Amino acid sequence: MTLKEKIGSRKAAIGVIGAGYVGLPLSVRFAECGFRVTAFEIDERKVEAIQNGRSYIADVGTATLAKLVNAGKFTATTDMAKLAACDAVSICVPTPLNKTRDPDVSAVLAAVEAIKRTLHKNELVIVESTTYPGFTREAVLPMFAETGLKVGDDFFLAFSPERVDPGNPTYHVKNTPKIVGGHTPRCLEHVALLYGEVVDHVVRVSSTDSAEMAKLLENTFRAVNIGLVNEVALMCKRLGIDTWEVIEAAASKPFGFMPFYPGPGLGGHCIPVDPHYLSWKMKTLNYTARFIDLAGEVNSAMPRIVVELVVDALNVDRKAVNGSRVLVCGVSYKRDSDDLRESPALDVIELLLERSATVDFHDPHVPELTVASGHRFKSVDITRPGAIEAYDAAIIVTDHRALDVVALLERASLVIDTRNATKAPLAATPKRTRARVVRL
Ligand SMILES: NC(=O)c1ccc[n+]([C@@H]2O[C@H](COP(=O)([O-])OP(=O)(O)OC[C@H]3O[C@@H](n4cnc5c(N)ncnc54)[C@H](O)[C@@H]3O)[C@@H](O)[C@H]2O)c1
Repeated sequence: MTLKEKIGSRKAAIGVIGAGYVGLPLSVRFAECGFRVTAFEIDERKVEAIQNGRSYIADVGTATLAKLVNAGKFTATTDMAKLAACDAVSICVPTPLNKTRDPDVSAVLAAVEAIKRTLHKNELVIVESTTYPGFTREAVLPMFAETGLKVGDDFFLAFSPERVDPGNPTYHVKNTPKIVGGHTPRCLEHVALLYGEVVDHVVRVSSTDSAEMAKLLENTFRAVNIGLVNEVALMCKRLGIDTWEVIEAAASKPFGFMPFYPGPGLGGHCIPVDPHYLSWKMKTLNYTARFIDLAGEVNSAMPRIVVELVVDALNVDRKAVNGSRVLVCGVSYKRDSDDLRESPALDVIELLLERSATVDFHDPHVPELTVASGHRFKSVDITRPGAIEAYDAAIIVTDHRALDVVALLERASLVIDTRNATKAPLAATPKRTRARVVRL
């Protein structure tokens, strides 16, 4: 049976390397569509959880996972030798930055090395991890070429960027269009065929380089626009204009404008990281990616600006930040999530600690956290009588829906609002507000 026939009849055995935010939902989608899927994971706890039918990713229901595992459609292992039995393998491992803020592609290379050991005829390998343009062609292909197998004839190599937006109630694997690029036309045909079985819409591009660059355009677009709107917020502050009102007004234009909102800084695994992959690549070509650098500069300054707001606001109350009690509300990098990766709240906490403030946090989704300097915190229960009143300032860093903003307004003396979370409650119950509110 050819690989195409195996895919068409859903008899192809699928391997997914890395069962995290990206790999687990993708594995589940393949399994739901009738493929036999094996997740290859180095984290034994994740393997154990999958084998016990227990999900650890909010977007994947435990009942769904358990059903697929019990039906024999989905399994997980740490044993990379089992890659030999896979017809198609998707690489979904992390691609962070190293200490010098350069791309760290070591996990992808480790996955490629593992696949290489058992690479066989008619196998399709898809890189999903976000990376720089040219990576699949320049770094992955030469490793596979060492096997003597010929790409496009003996095996197929593709890049297909992951676009998952954890926590998004509308868009998930099935209905998010999937970009695919192959190293050769036959590679493209195979990857398009495979994803065509599991997603509603496949978008073909002419090369792996284009697919890699498309992903970086998407995330650079976000980073640059967030940088722009953060700078607009700083300009509005100097001008004495309400930033949020300005954005709302501009967003009434039905064409040519898309609203972005200021905030305490970028967070998560993608937007603060991915544009650096592009600027790093461009540096190797002696080109400076100016928009990326500038957006990075503006966005990474935001936690410091938030802390300056706190310092200035405490000053109005004749208080020094040194010794003041500050409650950081919402610490994950985005609303309704428990994901702390690159969260600007962690920087805000560190900067306050550096200034000798007494810091606590409250987050309905995060029970505890440790910041880089080693301080450990447990989420404060703000429903306790006197809990909010005990603080000199409360900062809304992440506007979870479950965050009781009304309680903060009624019981805190000072609220620093970095997300415009107080607007609606203030409008609804202006009389019950005790807090002085300072917005970004
Ligand atoms: N999380 C997102 O929202 C998102 C969105 C789009 C793209 N991406 C990209 O997808 C990729 C994966 O991101 P993620 O958020 O799923 O990361 P993650 O950390 O949630 O998951 C990655 C998994 O890979 C495992 N792993 C690491 N090295 C391994 C190896 N050598 N072999 C087997 N398993 C290994 C880790 O244990 C982890 O479980 C990254 O390149 C990221 O930039 C992420």
